[in-house]
Amino acid sequence: MENINRRSWFKTAGIGAAIIGTGSCKLNAEPSKSSAGKVITDKIIRLSSNENRYAPSPNIRQAMMDAMDLSYLYSPGHYKPLIEKIAKKEGVSTANILLVSGSNEGLRLTGLCYAMNGGEIITSTPTYKALLSYAEEFGGTINKVDRDQDLKFDLEEMEKRVSAKTQMVFLCNPNNPTGTLLDGEKTMDFCDKVSEKTMVFSDEAYADYIEEDNYPTMVPLVKQGKNVIVSRTFSKVYGMAGVRVGYLIARPDIIKTMKPKVMGYVNMMGVYGAIAALDDHEFYQHSLQKNKEAKQLIYDVCDDIGLRYVKSHTNFVFHQIKKDLGTYASEMLDLGVRVGRPFPPLTDWCRISTGNEADMQAWKKAMYEVYG
Ligand SMILES: Cc1ncc(COP(=O)(O)O)c(C=O)c1O
Repeated sequence: MENINRRSWFKTAGIGAAIIGTGSCKLNAEPSKSSAGKVITDKIIRLSSNENRYAPSPNIRQAMMDAMDLSYLYSPGHYKPLIEKIAKKEGVSTANILLVSGSNEGLRLTGLCYAMNGGEIITSTPTYKALLSYAEEFGGTINKVDRDQDLKFDLEEMEKRVSAKTQMVFLCNPNNPTGTLLDGEKTMDFCDKVSEKTMVFSDEAYADYIEEDNYPTMVPLVKQGKNVIVSRTFSKVYGMAGVRVGYLIARPDIIKTMKPKVMGYVNMMGVYGAIAALDDHEFYQHSLQKNKEAKQLIYDVCDDIGLRYVKSHTNFVFHQIKKDLGTYASEMLDLGVRVGRPFPPLTDWCRISTGNEADMQAWKKAMYEVYG
């Protein structure tokens, strides 16, 4: 250990270590014990992957613990109550839902299905790449439209580029990494029109964080039988990233084509945790409130230091750093804080995830050291 410098130690300590919330939140569950009976902790503050530091809530945790007793069973026989609950929440039929191991599996699966015979997917960059990189692996090409001056998807240009080659148009709304939200009515019109010509995918992983009244999801278009697929996740506001539960919402015939290509099962703890999560309204509201407070702190620090940022509709903030991200990330890591990865071509911007109160104070302190 003596030969390892502080930075490489932080880096090593970050790999594979679980993080347990230390905030003052009364909804926070008790820290877990590893099999060796030691509390599992992490030495770095991980604000790099848009996780929810207030999770798991005691109710979700208890449901997952109870489900341990069923862990010797294959889980699909236990999907039904969860799919029914999701369908009710989304206002669709159970035939519209495909349960997947985290929405990433749904994104990859879609990339595979729509690119395996070639063709192109139109999107705007930077955006979340899970579907796109999988599509490229299976022979698809990505037609990338530049973001507009507000770092939002340029819907007009995307629509212009739709051609006979187009297999799909990919939207991420709110978008990762920018945190931007598209105009609701414009987006609905865009998806409606474009879905007459090609499939539209709407990644709505962060939809729970949208505060705008009556903001439309693209689910109503699914209900109207359009060529639209929506993805959702339990990893963000419900804080279940480690147990991998997500779902796709689409027309029954689309779900039927994709279902045989699903590769893994959602694990039993995830299934019962997700059922509990949908009933845990108190934790849901608490997650939203704490996220809002953390974002405000990030805005205040950026304002004070003089760094531009984008108003976020997610659990992270994209902000300017006025230097190269590699240098900045290294400086922050030396101070014990892991920040987001690069999103080219915006390499003088950084995506910072919200954490608990202690995390945010540590981030603030590190920022004043770096910019002091
Ligand atoms: C936009 C977006 N979609 C999907 C995901 C994947 O989430 P999941 O944990 O459900 O695989 C993420 C994760 O950060 C994301 O940012």
